[in-house]
Amino acid sequence: MINVVNVFVNGYGNIGRRLAFILSSDKDLHLIGIGKYSADEKTKEALDNGLNVYVPEAKFEQFRDRKYDVSGTVEDAVRQSDIVVDAAVEGRGFDNKKRLYEPMGKAAIFQGGEDRSGSRSVADMIHNSRVNYSLANGRRYVIQGSCNVSGMGRIMQPLSERYGDQIKRFDVTIVRRWADLEDSKDVRDSIEWDRDPHHQNDVKAFLPSANLFVEAYKVPSRMMHLHQMAIRFKTRAPSKEDVIETLHKEFGIAILNSAKSTADVRKKAMDLGFKHGDTNMVHIHSDALRVQDDILKILYSDDQTGMVIPENHLLLQSMALGRPKHEAIQKTDGLFSMTKRARILEDEFK
Ligand SMILES: NC(=O)c1ccc[n+]([C@@H]2O[C@H](COP(=O)([O-])OP(=O)(O)OC[C@H]3O[C@@H](n4cnc5c(N)ncnc54)[C@H](OP(=O)(O)O)[C@@H]3O)[C@@H](O)[C@H]2O)c1
Repeated sequence: MINVVNVFVNGYGNIGRRLAFILSSDKDLHLIGIGKYSADEKTKEALDNGLNVYVPEAKFEQFRDRKYDVSGTVEDAVRQSDIVVDAAVEGRGFDNKKRLYEPMGKAAIFQGGEDRSGSRSVADMIHNSRVNYSLANGRRYVIQGSCNVSGMGRIMQPLSERYGDQIKRFDVTIVRRWADLEDSKDVRDSIEWDRDPHHQNDVKAFLPSANLFVEAYKVPSRMMHLHQMAIRFKTRAPSKEDVIETLHKEFGIAILNSAKSTADVRKKAMDLGFKHGDTNMVHIHSDALRVQDDILKILYSDDQTGMVIPENHLLLQSMALGRPKHEAIQKTDGLFSMTKRARILEDEFK
């Protein structure tokens, strides 16, 4: 018998709305509602979806003036919760922790835009379900790694388990989308580089022994991220078949052989009617997976908005329910149909 856990999703942007949708369908949890900060039309969407909406006290009248039937203040919702999934705009999670979660003694999950170190650190652990799911059990504050960081862990960990100290180093080039499909901001005709990509230290937080070097570029696209991972071995790299067999067994990985672009994958997910157009996984492009001498190159696309939603759901089960990992994966797979959808995508792009 599981005690129902009260969860509040604080923030209703690209990540928060997806989290709220899935958590409202999990019978082991009770979703108190979502936190909304601007009295815009997304409030109506949340209300139409049957969600209770909580707003900052100072903005209560603005929401009421627009005839939005809000349920109370963000403070009320945090008070009622056992755990908060913070989905605030980057950096605001820290302020929420200091102002609300810590004083009220509430556990919280933070998203990848928050800091792990420095004066605005929210937690000292970054979760990656493939690596450190069980370590989150009983913790009060944990960061769910960002989409790129989640994708890297999902691939590096099984390869490290399979090939161990034969691997000399990982070099990853991340090609990031400029904005999400739902964002209203413009996409600029430019390519931006990142002087010090946070992804390297974030991955090393949960895979400290990996010899990893990351570059990141932002390109004018809204579709998906693309990673080129080069893995250097001490002697000859393994065969393509062996690498694919290793990765194909993994939860949240699809092996696609005929996609030509990130847009191909995203549009297919939309055509297939996947919720929010998300695949929630990484897609290994096996036609572009190459082996030469001591180097293995893996090209994969990473569903930026969808990727972290099952990860948050798994983390919640570790922190709030203390569920063993295999049971948590079963539960998450049931709600998201991840394995079924991976096989559908593989069939579409065989
Ligand atoms: N987008 C992605 O693909 C992606 C992937 C992985 C991780 N993340 C991380 O997830 C987090 C949220 O990203 P997002 O893409 O969902 O951002 P977003 O679409 O810009 O949404 C942010 C939301 O934060 C709300 N907000 C404003 N002040 C707040 C506060 N004090 N407390 C709580 N919420 C507040 C805003 O509410 P109003 O709209 O009502 O003003 C907005 O809906 C960030 O840390 C980001 O790095 C994003």
